[in-house]
Amino acid sequence: MLVVESAVKHREFEYKKEDFRRIVKIIYKVSGISLSARKEDMVYSRLARRLRANSINRFSEYLNFVSKDNDEQKAFVNALTTNLTHFFREEHHFDYLSDVYFPELFAKSSKRIRFWSAGCSTGEEPYTLSMIWEHLTNKPSDIDFKILATDLDSNVIDSGKTGIYSVDKLVPVADEYLKWFKRTKGCTVNQKQVDPKLKEPIAFKQLNLMQDWPIKGPFQLIICRNVLIYFDKPTQKKLIKRYYDLLEPGGCLILGHSESLGDNRNLFEAKGKTIFRKLGNG
Ligand SMILES: C[S@@+](CC[C@H](N)C(=O)[O-])C[C@H]1O[C@@H](n2cnc3c(N)ncnc32)[C@H](O)[C@@H]1O
Repeated sequence: MLVVESAVKHREFEYKKEDFRRIVKIIYKVSGISLSARKEDMVYSRLARRLRANSINRFSEYLNFVSKDNDEQKAFVNALTTNLTHFFREEHHFDYLSDVYFPELFAKSSKRIRFWSAGCSTGEEPYTLSMIWEHLTNKPSDIDFKILATDLDSNVIDSGKTGIYSVDKLVPVADEYLKWFKRTKGCTVNQKQVDPKLKEPIAFKQLNLMQDWPIKGPFQLIICRNVLIYFDKPTQKKLIKRYYDLLEPGGCLILGHSESLGDNRNLFEAKGKTIFRKLGNG
């Protein structure tokens, strides 16, 4: 006779279905992140560190603590965000900016150019934009160029501000850009830091996309890649409309490779793989 053993997981901390359900509710309410049942194990391993750090043995007790303690709520959110990123990710986006979009902005004699990297994680995306900017030939000298770089996770914002990266993060960086990374006093043997020149146009700020934005537009570019995938459809729809409102007419919205405009597709013109330009004057 075939004996099927039930797959009982022996875990360090007590973790019940009800605990997972509570986590799903809290993280959705705070961040818009929508966790499916498949994420149950991932959530356990990410939060187990927090239980250990607080010497708590049960998830139920930890969640009671999270509901009362603001600092722990921040640590809880930081633990549950997925921050995967790299320099020159989806390089065709940066080619479009260098070859098409910047020349167009220069031809319009724009004196003020504002980009927003929304969900910038540890900063590779805004620093890539800054490198692209530095390498543009024939750019007018009197342009005021700034990049706002925001993320919900306060740890990744702190890390982006330092601009220190392990050398293996520099693998996707082409030789011509490597001069922007130097071993400085703050680095270990396996790290390099971005040149202060690359930091100049960037302002890193902690910002929750689900809340009010203390931000004045208009932006010429909003790049929000691999962030919408964590939200449900109604949240994605609202967010894209809010980006639309902050873009100047003709402004550029760039999403991640697996993301789309959904019901907002009539508001933009597609210009290539997940590159969109705002239609109308709104
Ligand atoms: C996978 S990373 C994407 C990084 C970068 N944009 C890229 O494509 O390489 C997703 C980022 O979205 C951020 N995020 C998730 N929910 C957010 C929210 N409600 N507000 C702001 N940022 C959020 C996460 O903290 C994370 O750093």
